[in-house]
Amino acid sequence: MHTKKTAITAAPIAPVIAERWSPRAFDATYVLTQAESISLLEAARWAASANNMQPWRFSVLNRGEALFDKAVTTGLTGFNQAWAPRASQLIVLSVPKNHHDGSPYRIAFFDAGLAAANLLTQATELGLSCHVIGGLVREELSETLGLSDELEIVVAIAVGKLAPAETLEGPAYEREIQPRVRLELDEIVLHGKP
Ligand SMILES: Cc1cc2nc3c(=O)[nH]c(=O)nc-3n(C[C@H](O)[C@H](O)[C@H](O)COP(=O)(O)O)c2cc1C
Repeated sequence: MHTKKTAITAAPIAPVIAERWSPRAFDATYVLTQAESISLLEAARWAASANNMQPWRFSVLNRGEALFDKAVTTGLTGFNQAWAPRASQLIVLSVPKNHHDGSPYRIAFFDAGLAAANLLTQATELGLSCHVIGGLVREELSETLGLSDELEIVVAIAVGKLAPAETLEGPAYEREIQPRVRLELDEIVLHGKP
């Protein structure tokens, strides 16, 4: 059975937001079509960004390629290595560290987050699943991808088709079947003092 984890909300939200969740059970036989792959990148490309500077850069690795194998074996932290290799693609998101004048490009991380959110939403629309990975060995991954020193890796995103939770074992299986939880609105909406 394919796991469903629809968000429980106090008011309706768009189905692509409610249905998205981060699985670790990916179908190791599914290969993203070229149309799916481009659609994800287009969704990311059309995100908003500060001054429309679009600082996001995407390195796309496909399962079966030598670079994918190297990235998942040396570029991910231990737990992530256990499940990510079954995804069809690993998309590594990087941004420039600095502006052209040498000052830190702090807002680039925010811009990249918006692009990633678009990509995740589009994946749900296409019936695909994504799992963002922050647990990276960034120096190794950067070297594997041949990234310039001016770029900083933000996250990697595993993309593929959902598989049944039972295809996982141990802690990954336990986490796969846990319900999704969130802080209550009361805890995150701040009210100024009168
Ligand atoms: C920036 C970021 C980094 C993350 N890093 C990891 C990771 O290294 N390994 C992992 O299994 N999940 C990782 N996640 C997935 C989160 O644990 C997951 O999004 C969160 O528990 C909420 O669950 P949901 O996406 O299913 O709603 C990451 C998510 C984000 C946004």
